[in-house]
Amino acid sequence: MKSILIYYFSGTGNTKEISRLLVEELESEGCTVKLYTMEDQLKSQKEINLEVYDLIGLAYPIYGFGTPGIVSRIVEGFPEGGGKNLFIYKTGADFISINHNASTELIEVLEKRGYNVFYDRIIAMASNWLVAYDDRLVKQLYNSAIGKVKHMSREILNLKRRRYKTGHFLKKLSMGISHLEKTYGSSYFVKSLRTNQKCNHCEICVKRCPNQNILFVNENPVFGDNCLWCMRCVYTCPQKAIFSKGMNFSILKNGYDLKRIVENEDIGSDYITEETGGYFKHFYNYLSDESL
Ligand SMILES: Cc1cc2nc3c(=O)[nH]c(=O)nc-3n(C[C@H](O)[C@H](O)[C@H](O)COP(=O)(O)O)c2cc1C
Ligand code: SF4
Ligand code: SF4
Repeated sequence: MKSILIYYFSGTGNTKEISRLLVEELESEGCTVKLYTMEDQLKSQKEINLEVYDLIGLAYPIYGFGTPGIVSRIVEGFPEGGGKNLFIYKTGADFISINHNASTELIEVLEKRGYNVFYDRIIAMASNWLVAYDDRLVKQLYNSAIGKVKHMSREILNLKRRRYKTGHFLKKLSMGISHLEKTYGSSYFVKSLRTNQKCNHCEICVKRCPNQNILFVNENPVFGDNCLWCMRCVYTCPQKAIFSKGMNFSILKNGYDLKRIVENEDIGSDYITEETGGYFKHFYNYLSDESL
């Protein structure tokens, strides 16, 4: 049976949970799966050896219609591909076409390095940024993702080719926005971060930052220039002491905690129905068809 290695990055838990479900599914098919976070791999500075694996997976959230910077750093450490099969799955707050180029540049790099990127898929989860989804929609997307992950596992094991294709304009647009997000967006965001008097100097944010971008200076967290805009420090500070001066609109008022919503049995999962109108209408078929 197949031996699989997956590197994932997850700022706030969505991609982590999808990866956990996928590993469960692949193992139930008799595969051996190693699941590592990109941040642990980078911290360890260990050489990446992919030789013993039949399949390699990369997983991450979509940021600004593109790929978080940490992903290219992992791929830089990959050896030459020699035709090895590689799959990608991403979580995003939507599956709309402007997201379809989220891996285009990365795939180009991987293909140049000799990898056969046969699979690229978006699994829509809740938004952790800008727009808060209703708790029922968070749960509904999660429940639908469970079926999609089963479907994805089957497709990956069958080496089914699944790739997005969009027109040239959309490709250029999403790549341009992704570049702005990675440079100016994350830089403005991190410069705007502050802590308030609720901070009890626990250092948790320092330890949790995936990019080691928070230092502890005079017992206070100080944010550096190397931010992924992942939101983890903001949402997981136990004191809710981190805020943004100027870009608070990008932070969800009530934070983001997938586990709290998924485990709360009082929250229903019936937000989108056949009668739903407005923006979320396009989710209806997506939610009920595991192949989408
Ligand atoms: C800085 C930033 C940019 C984002 N940009 C997009 C985007 O372009 N498209 C999208 O669908 N979701 C976007 N999102 C939402 C996340 O991709 C989505 O909530 C994802 O599932 C979060 O995954 P995680 O919990 O594993 O970090 C963005 C989130 C952040 C923090
Ligand atoms: S996690 Fe919160 S309370 Fe702890 S040091 Fe960071 S900002 Fe302060
Ligand atoms: S500073 Fe905060 S938002 Fe930026 S990478 Fe670190 S944890 Fe993520």
